Amino acid sequence: MNPALTKIGAQMSNLTGVRAIMKDIIETLQAGAGQQFINLSAGNPLILPEVEELWRDCTSQLLNSQEYGEVVCRYGSSQGYAPLIEAIANDFNQRYGLNLTQRNILITPGSQSLYFYAANAFGGYTNSGNLKQIVLPLSPDYTGYGGVCLFPEALIAYKPTLDIDAAAHKFKYRPDFSKLSITENTGCVIFSRPCNPTGNVLTDEEVKKIAAMAAQFDVPVLIDSAYGPPFPALNFTQMTPIFGNNILHCMSLSKAGLPGERIGIAIGDEQLIEVLECFQTNACLHASRYGQAIAARAINSGALAQISLDVIRSFYQNKFTVLESTLDAAMPKDLPWFLHRGEGAIFAWLWLQDLPISDWELYQDLKQVGVIVVPGSTFFPGLQEEWEHKQQCLRISLTGSDEEIVTGMQGLARVVEGVYQREVVGV
Ligand SMILES: Cc1ncc(COP(=O)(O)O)c(C=O)c1O
Repeated sequence: MNPALTKIGAQMSNLTGVRAIMKDIIETLQAGAGQQFINLSAGNPLILPEVEELWRDCTSQLLNSQEYGEVVCRYGSSQGYAPLIEAIANDFNQRYGLNLTQRNILITPGSQSLYFYAANAFGGYTNSGNLKQIVLPLSPDYTGYGGVCLFPEALIAYKPTLDIDAAAHKFKYRPDFSKLSITENTGCVIFSRPCNPTGNVLTDEEVKKIAAMAAQFDVPVLIDSAYGPPFPALNFTQMTPIFGNNILHCMSLSKAGLPGERIGIAIGDEQLIEVLECFQTNACLHASRYGQAIAARAINSGALAQISLDVIRSFYQNKFTVLESTLDAAMPKDLPWFLHRGEGAIFAWLWLQDLPISDWELYQDLKQVGVIVVPGSTFFPGLQEEWEHKQQCLRISLTGSDEEIVTGMQGLARVVEGVYQREVVGV
């Protein structure tokens, strides 16, 4: 059957950005009969035994309680399961000195849906035909923002400035406040902190500045804290969650061991929460209640925050150190390679300045030696302007074993050296 698709239907059924690469990676892995690949492309967190045990314990407590039938045999409110909302309000009020009530919290089936609701409730065309933009203040950023708006022309990202430490082969992106424009034509602002794919953490001052620029026009700012504290606490540098009238603090339990249960959380102004809740009622009624019920237990007992700090954070921080020290030892000192400062998340981001081939070609070369990473150009959603930097980066997942990371990065260093050398000798 070949049904006629609407404009939106065609757009939404396209394989965009990183999904196209993932398809290629799956096909490569399936076709590579006998060939061993080191797959450093995954965004899927690893299953850590302590984390699995936490969710198993919470599940068995739920199974043995009166609550079980109430949880799985009933529909619930679109806003979310009341005990989870209460657990989050209590935890955040205590932890950050807030005055949240249950009206300030919405639970969604994963945080991706949250960005979809917000992008279409605040971005796109108004009744009077004006286009409200969805502003990504610091590009590159999460590839998943690329498909969230039903009107893709609404998405606009800003090129960053680069803070480069040439001697150390390190760099960091910073928002370019001389270019960033937030006006009455802005519908909402979104950024991830810590950032997927770069591991960047915007400073508290940078976040406050963006929020203040947006507040002048009553524009909501969604701070995607899928990797932030208190859970999964995948920040390797000091950072404070920032709250405010126009800030929607958005979280996910996916990197805290529940990606399959689909739990996203938005915390913010009552009216913003209500808009998103209504959107959710229309889209899917509500998130799964089983995941919410076990999450409430893990938050109330303090175990989720504790395991995040003691297990999840140190696990990935160590992986980053392994990757960084391997590259420091293996990459040629005289080449212009720069690793983004590892401030959080579960990825490393490598910039190869003046790379003689494209990131896609380098990805293909790396596959030839059995190393799979993600070409960086898929992580610039909304950035229309030409910029060679977009074709000079790679995202490397920290979800491999230490041995895989070491072997993979040594292989990468050899390939990269060869690529620059080919250029010099004009092959
Ligand atoms: C920065 C960021 N935001 C949002 C998401 C979506 O996560 P989920 O829908 O599982 O909560 C991801 C997933 O990898 C992510 O990396």
